[in-house]
Amino acid sequence: MLARLAALASVVLIVTACGQDDDHEGARVLWEKINAGPGFRSWDRAPGFPTRKPSFTAHSGAVEIFVNAEVSSALATPRTAALTEWPVGALIVKEGFSGDSRKLVAVMEKRADGWFWAEYDDGGDSKYSGRPSVCTDCHDNRKSYSDWVYAFELPR
Ligand code: HEC
Repeated sequence: MLARLAALASVVLIVTACGQDDDHEGARVLWEKINAGPGFRSWDRAPGFPTRKPSFTAHSGAVEIFVNAEVSSALATPRTAALTEWPVGALIVKEGFSGDSRKLVAVMEKRADGWFWAEYDDGGDSKYSGRPSVCTDCHDNRKSYSDWVYAFELPR
């Protein structure tokens, strides 16, 4: 219990001490991309997330998760062999809510060199971007299982 508290305290410290907003401009471009046209809320919802639902994590009370067409078609394509990674171009957007207000928007974009991570406040100002260890250290648990994604699995 104490060890868990200490671990939690150090996460809080990392979050407040350094934002790890390493690619603010890249994050701004990505924000425009996910909000272009009708925006990400018009995309498919992630498997298992048909509506807003409680988050497994502590940083928001409830989440809504959306996936772009690259992810949807990867999920829908019948496969003879299991997919081992999400295609380049895959985008996953998670909104985090506290009560009725949106507190954060977290995004993962699959690029040729791996996932680009970003987290924004409600107004679209990035707080984390690039490959922040605060994101990768936790999602790392799912690296080999579902190519870093927590909420749903690779089609098997
Ligand atoms: C303490 C663990 C933890 C940390 C730290 C964390 N995440 Fe997550 N993330 C999760 C879990 C668990 C989910 C599954 C949905 C939920 O319950 O919120 C998730 C879901 C997501 C999703 C939806 C796709 C998926 O993988 O399920 C995105 C996008 C995301 N996180 C981005 C980020 C970004 C960006 C950061 C860093 C700023 C971050 N996460 C930090 C645990 C974490």
